[in-house]
Amino acid sequence: WIEPILAVFFGYMLGAVPFGLLLTKITGGGDLREIGSGNIGATNVLRTGNKAIAALTLLLDVGKGAVAVLIAAEIDSGLGVLAGMGAFLGHLYPVWLKFKGGKGVATLLGIVAALDPILGLVFAVIWIGVLLIFRYSSVGGMLASVSVPITAVVLNHYSWIPMFIGFALLVIWKHRANVERLMAGEEPKVGAS
Ligand code: G3P
Repeated sequence: WIEPILAVFFGYMLGAVPFGLLLTKITGGGDLREIGSGNIGATNVLRTGNKAIAALTLLLDVGKGAVAVLIAAEIDSGLGVLAGMGAFLGHLYPVWLKFKGGKGVATLLGIVAALDPILGLVFAVIWIGVLLIFRYSSVGGMLASVSVPITAVVLNHYSWIPMFIGFALLVIWKHRANVERLMAGEEPKVGAS
């Protein structure tokens, strides 16, 4: 019974590493929480003007989700799923930042890609596609997150669907300020600010 708890805890610890915040601080970009949207993700790192650090944040935030799942799945596939849950919650609610973490999109991509690469591929295509066409990272991230439970139905991953619905709802909840900005026509486009 201890293994499932350890898997969630291991995932949480990995997910709770706020790479965007750390990298921005280390490279002299200041406190990311006081810049742009205040979010600790790659989209907001981009607003500091440092494209390389934004790309690295994206890579590491995706990577921590994937690594959590893959390492725990080495022991047992069910533990991989639990570690993925832990990583997602760790990114959204990190103990180090008084539980005020990120919005979950990049980490979710890593988690679902590690569970089934097709889920990750559909996610990435929607996210990047919406981003390229409409230039709103938030819209792409939310739509990609909602795609996960739907793609899971198509791929017959029925046991994961409740968890994926939970993930998508949390991503949307975390984007509530973005949704308000979008409705007010005030959401900044990527590359425009
Ligand atoms: O993944 C976060 C993104 O969807 C929105 O980021 O900084 O525009 O709130 P931001």
